[in-house]
Amino acid sequence: MTHTTFHFPRGFLWGTATASHQVEGKNTQNNWWAWEQTPGHIQNNHTSGLACDWWGGRWREDLDRAAAAGQNAHRLSIEWSRIQPAPDRWDENALDRYIEILRGLSERKMTPLVTLHHFTDPLWLAELGGWGNERVVEYFNAYVGKVVEALREYTKLWVTINEPNVLYISAYLMGIWPPGEQSLKACLQVMTNLVRAHAAAYHTIHRIQPQARVGMAINYRPLHPLRSWSPLDRGAARIYSQMFNEFFPTALHSGSLRFPFWRRRVPEAKGTQDYLGVNYYTRDYVTANLGKLTSAVEKPRFPPGSDVSPSGMFANMPDGIFRAVKWALKFKVPVILTENGIEDADDRIRPRYLIQHIHQLWRAVNFNFPVQGYFHWTLVDNFEWERGWTQRFGLWELDLETQARRKRSSADLYAEICRENGLSTDMVRRYAPEIFASMFPE
Ligand code: GAL
Repeated sequence: MTHTTFHFPRGFLWGTATASHQVEGKNTQNNWWAWEQTPGHIQNNHTSGLACDWWGGRWREDLDRAAAAGQNAHRLSIEWSRIQPAPDRWDENALDRYIEILRGLSERKMTPLVTLHHFTDPLWLAELGGWGNERVVEYFNAYVGKVVEALREYTKLWVTINEPNVLYISAYLMGIWPPGEQSLKACLQVMTNLVRAHAAAYHTIHRIQPQARVGMAINYRPLHPLRSWSPLDRGAARIYSQMFNEFFPTALHSGSLRFPFWRRRVPEAKGTQDYLGVNYYTRDYVTANLGKLTSAVEKPRFPPGSDVSPSGMFANMPDGIFRAVKWALKFKVPVILTENGIEDADDRIRPRYLIQHIHQLWRAVNFNFPVQGYFHWTLVDNFEWERGWTQRFGLWELDLETQARRKRSSADLYAEICRENGLSTDMVRRYAPEIFASMFPE
């Protein structure tokens, strides 16, 4: 009988990732809160409401759970609208609250990874045109300076902007997120502003904290033509991949913005990543529709027989995480897996999803690819944007009515992985026996 353990390097970061709006509750001063109040914007007209009540103090019990489950790191985000509720007002109490949370992490011996922007904008910024307004670069930079001055003692690992690619596509091209725009022109302007804002933030953070490690988190999806024989599908996959996967990290690597028939130099962006954060969930298949650009990706499509999540939106395609790391090598910086997970309320797929993805990540590590950490999405079920509470990604289940948490079996599995700093055949046997034979053929 096969017995082995796939070990990870010493000091590897094991944690979960969360985001302010998704867990804090009552974020009434941002654009998402306002958006959620309009019927039709969010599935089942759900709202974020109290979320996981972290602002009410429940971050303590959740971080206790994470620490007791062997996690040595946690990724969280700072809510801009709390720190700067009006253009001319800083809320020092809100900053103190984040200091308390970061101290809480250090007391639990967990390394923080702090995201400065995770999809939400202060209402006042939204009213000024949000990411479409060029002045967002200076606004964001002022906010970043304020936060980094206040928190520099407690962390040196920063994500400037989470998934700029998902933000510009969802909010400015598909129009399913605030402000609901559907314009390629607006989207290109926002893409440019996001790159410039990241670059300014990078330099500001390093000025305040020279030893900081600064990156951003890209949502990487290997995109394939749905009909591999079709030149149209192949073209759509290539163009979409350029816009979704390549655009942002390439700009930070080379200092130039590249899009078919469109180029711009942004010299200040060149070399502004100390590591690359990669969020990987699934592969995707693209088909061309000449009538509507975004229809290529509106509905996820997977080959028949795929191991898909209950909503059909995510497929368990673990080799994609290996590919993601390999793809990231060209940017010549270390990689941190800043998000990976699956929605699965009944925890039927998650154990094998977790095992297979960690196994593929280990393969990458074993090739000496510079992977430094893995953050599972997520610790406790939380508010999933336009999908509301319909998708459950937590290692712990949340009962929204009572705020009670209930552990899913995957939480125990992940705890074993974190404690072992590796994955063993024994874990596979106990948590996902159905994949044992295919993972370890005799
Ligand atoms: C990511 C996002 C997270 C979370 C996750 C699962 O795109 O960064 O905030 O919502 O997807 O849907």
